[in-house]
Amino acid sequence: MRLAVVPGDGIGPEVVAEGLKVLGAVAPDIESTFYDLGAARWHRTGELLPDAVLEELRQHDAILLGAVGDPGVPSGILERGLLLKLRFELDHHVNLRPARLFDGVRSPLAEPGEIDMLCVREGTEGPYVGNGGVLRRDTPHEVATEVSLNTAFGVERVVRYGFERAVARPRKHLTLIHKTNVLTHAGSLWSRTVEELSAEFPEVTVAYQHVDAAAMFFITDPGRYDVIVTDNLFGDIVTDVAAAVTGGIGLAASGNLDVSGTNPSMFEPVHGSAPDIAGQGIADPTATVLSVGLLLEHLGRPELAKKVNAAVAFDLSTRDPKATLRTTEVGDRLAALSG
Ligand code: NAD
Ligand code: IPM
Ligand code: MN
Repeated sequence: MRLAVVPGDGIGPEVVAEGLKVLGAVAPDIESTFYDLGAARWHRTGELLPDAVLEELRQHDAILLGAVGDPGVPSGILERGLLLKLRFELDHHVNLRPARLFDGVRSPLAEPGEIDMLCVREGTEGPYVGNGGVLRRDTPHEVATEVSLNTAFGVERVVRYGFERAVARPRKHLTLIHKTNVLTHAGSLWSRTVEELSAEFPEVTVAYQHVDAAAMFFITDPGRYDVIVTDNLFGDIVTDVAAAVTGGIGLAASGNLDVSGTNPSMFEPVHGSAPDIAGQGIADPTATVLSVGLLLEHLGRPELAKKVNAAVAFDLSTRDPKATLRTTEVGDRLAALSG
């Protein structure tokens, strides 16, 4: 097994080091190759993701990424030119983001109840495709467009994946989140696709919510969700809310999957480079460790994924809520518990 590692910017390298500690404890046979991509390289060479590097990345079984984004680089350069380029070039059409409230973790909700949802966010379409432009820039008559792209092929494959995950879970429930009352063109494509596929998965119960109402239910009644399917932008937003109610962004893991297996899938924490705490050694690496769990599951090593998840669950159930743990301390504990 060959893993490409892109530590990236800010706290990226700090949390990736701990993720690799845990990976090394459970799967010492996995060989890691590091790729220097991100703000430092851009400053040095002006490069974001050279074609030759992308081709090398394709030769791996999976990618582990920390985070990209830097206050010293204009907004969007690294995000678009590196992170989104990887997701688009490697056809990461499913962005899988589980959100579970672990025992011992404090939710900001007074009565969170049981929360265990799996958000299936579309990853290669929607308003993220860069289909837009600017007219009359820097004039009072500037016009900017950012057109959301939705294809029958793209929507079908992500909704199908959502149903496949839902049918394999105890509750077998799937919620489509969209804004079909306003985005009537794309909304209709998403609704019809869910309706059509539901005939193939009669055991799965289906619900629909507009994204504004969903944002409310994530706070007032998150326990209602099992599997969620949604578009790229709505999925970005609701998964930060899901992270917040399940103990914070420091615990939220994700996988960018090419379900067909043609390209390597990429695993990364949901959070960004956190420039406000970078370099202090206080970032929580748990999200990255849980992303390593998703990676192992994806590489066909579910028994190792279980070990990692059990280590996190045990650690969280015994963490002193008042103690501020250092990044490396959390990594050491999780590696010891996993190995
Ligand atoms: P962010 O996730 O980096 O930070 C939001 C807040 O959460 C900050 O207060 C931060 O300190 C805190 N936080 C994040 N991760 C944490 C962790 N592991 N432990 C403890 N606290 C943590 O989001 P932002 O501030 O909106 O974005 C910062 C930069 O990161 C931007 O350039 C943005 O584009 C980029 N970004 C990248 C990714 C990615 O690489 N996948 C994701 C989100 C944002
Ligand atoms: C995320 C991030 C990215 C996204 C940005 C940095 C491009 O917010 O992974 O959630 O919007 O997908
Ligand atoms: Mn995000």
